[in-house]
Amino acid sequence: MELVVKPLNVRLNVDSGSNLLDVLRANQLPISYSCMSGRCGTCRCRVLSGQVRSSGPEAGRPHTGKDDYVLACQSVLTDNCVIELPEVDEVVVHTARIVKGTVTAIEEATHDIRRIRVKLAKPIEFSAGQYATVQFTPEHIRPYSMAGLSSDAEMEFQIRRVPDGRVTAFIFEELEVGAAIRVSGPLGTAYLRQKHTGPMLCVGGGTGLAPVLSIVRGALEAGMQNPIHLYFGVRSAKDVYDRERLKALAAAHPNVIVHIVVATGPAGAGQRSGLVTDAIEKDLKTLDGWRAYLCGAPAMVDALNLLVTRMGVESSHVYADAFYLSG
Ligand code: FES
Repeated sequence: MELVVKPLNVRLNVDSGSNLLDVLRANQLPISYSCMSGRCGTCRCRVLSGQVRSSGPEAGRPHTGKDDYVLACQSVLTDNCVIELPEVDEVVVHTARIVKGTVTAIEEATHDIRRIRVKLAKPIEFSAGQYATVQFTPEHIRPYSMAGLSSDAEMEFQIRRVPDGRVTAFIFEELEVGAAIRVSGPLGTAYLRQKHTGPMLCVGGGTGLAPVLSIVRGALEAGMQNPIHLYFGVRSAKDVYDRERLKALAAAHPNVIVHIVVATGPAGAGQRSGLVTDAIEKDLKTLDGWRAYLCGAPAMVDALNLLVTRMGVESSHVYADAFYLSG
């Protein structure tokens, strides 16, 4: 049977029953991947015609073009088909791994956000903006975004307490400096695209600031000169954190503009009142040619997604990381 890989127009003869990711890797075709177990979404590609069968959670479901996306690591080739690889010039490959670590600091960022610093036994390579699963104990496991870069000496997580949340109650009340934990990753597709040279819109709501900080720092560390508009949206002034860090970032890099937008109640010095969506719409006339990184609560990410695509960002250039509440 024949597999055609777009946009490269590569034609391959493959055995029926082959795993799609295995075939792509064996033929050195540019595909991003990480977990190889259907969890991270990194290896997502599109079936343009023909049929691919899922071997993962949707086992057996046939995926037939048009606009049907599959995870290459969870796909079995059973028929002639044409698939399309996303962003062939932006491939990232970080093999997901589980690494032991030690909590080195627990800091109070706001009334309901803690900053946890972790020293790993071995570094985990990740792209700016990705996340990992943190196992505090066998019963206390949650995914959190890295606020830093893989070149940092320690990992940083920013964790908001979820009302009645079992895991965040443990983190806030029982976790101590020196605790042994495990970090598994990286995961996630809302990572920095380094080949893009146009303007970047980076929006973090609440602890969505963590991956946004990682993306902005990653862009600066990579020497990207793109104009970067960073919006940090919070519910009220008491939810603002990392003010000085953001100020220092903007002061040191003229291409970075920071806006702190407070939804309700009075805003503090250097901050703005209102919804982050309204602020973006007011500030920016068009987002044609931009890339958008959107991280935070699902409702905010959905609203931003609608807004930025309406303002001109191509939907394939919106990288969204919605934080679903699980305490
Ligand atoms: Fe396929 Fe993670 S590599 S979903």
